[in-house]
Amino acid sequence: MYIVLLGPPGAGKGTQAQRLAEATGLVHISTGDMFREHVRKGTELGQLAKSYMDRGELVPDEVTIAMLVERLGQPDAAKGAIFDGFPRNVAQAKALDDALAKRGAAIDHALLIEVSDDELVARLGGRWMCRQCGAVYHERNDPPKTPGVCDRCGGELYQRDDDKPDVVRARLEKQKPPADLIEYYRARGILRTIDGEQPLDAVTKALLEAIGSWQSA
Ligand code: AP5
Repeated sequence: MYIVLLGPPGAGKGTQAQRLAEATGLVHISTGDMFREHVRKGTELGQLAKSYMDRGELVPDEVTIAMLVERLGQPDAAKGAIFDGFPRNVAQAKALDDALAKRGAAIDHALLIEVSDDELVARLGGRWMCRQCGAVYHERNDPPKTPGVCDRCGGELYQRDDDKPDVVRARLEKQKPPADLIEYYRARGILRTIDGEQPLDAVTKALLEAIGSWQSA
């Protein structure tokens, strides 16, 4: 099963992708996490990506698509994946369709997580992430047991450079899912819209129900 998670910055794509991955066994593929890993390692791609990320802009399609297609070719993505942060536009969606078609596969579900702008600003301002495993926390909504320490792996928590107020404003202006991308999946009959302002567990339940994987305990 191949799933794309759509939504504005801070909607909860990363948080929910991790939860869906744990519930379904599918691999979680985040282009944002991949770029941050390149930045951390100081690669050429990382330097290029950082120059866009620091301005709240999308990294050019050419390099983003090449990175994603390469990741899709790895064995853990052979039976399915949850895409978080990809695609961001119709060109990326078509490239993903082409890459999957070559493997005899297709996107099964496109899940759009909707959250109001005020809530997005509050979420991004209070977000902390693990340097080691990428787990996501929020200082009020979803705090770690020990401040600054990841519950999952004990790694150090940090605040992203692109969560500074001026970059957040730019991201909210430039990076909401465009109407033609939403329409691309709606026209195929695979788009579901989820209210992302519910508590974390309720959002997870709605997403699992949308993909037919909800099992009550
Ligand atoms: P990326 O890392 O993908 O950033 P994004 O899309 O802006 O999304 P975020 O990671 O900020 O938010 P999220 O929706 O994952 O929310 P989260 O779960 O963390 O991309 C970073 C950059 O890389 C981009 O700006 C771009 O430059 C580049 N890039 C990446 N992909 C690209 C592509 N395909 N093409 C080109 N460039 C690309 O949650 C946010 C906070 O809210 C957390 O603190 C969380 O604890 C809290 N929270 C979540 N859900 C709830 C809830 N239900 N209730 C209360 N709090 C909640």
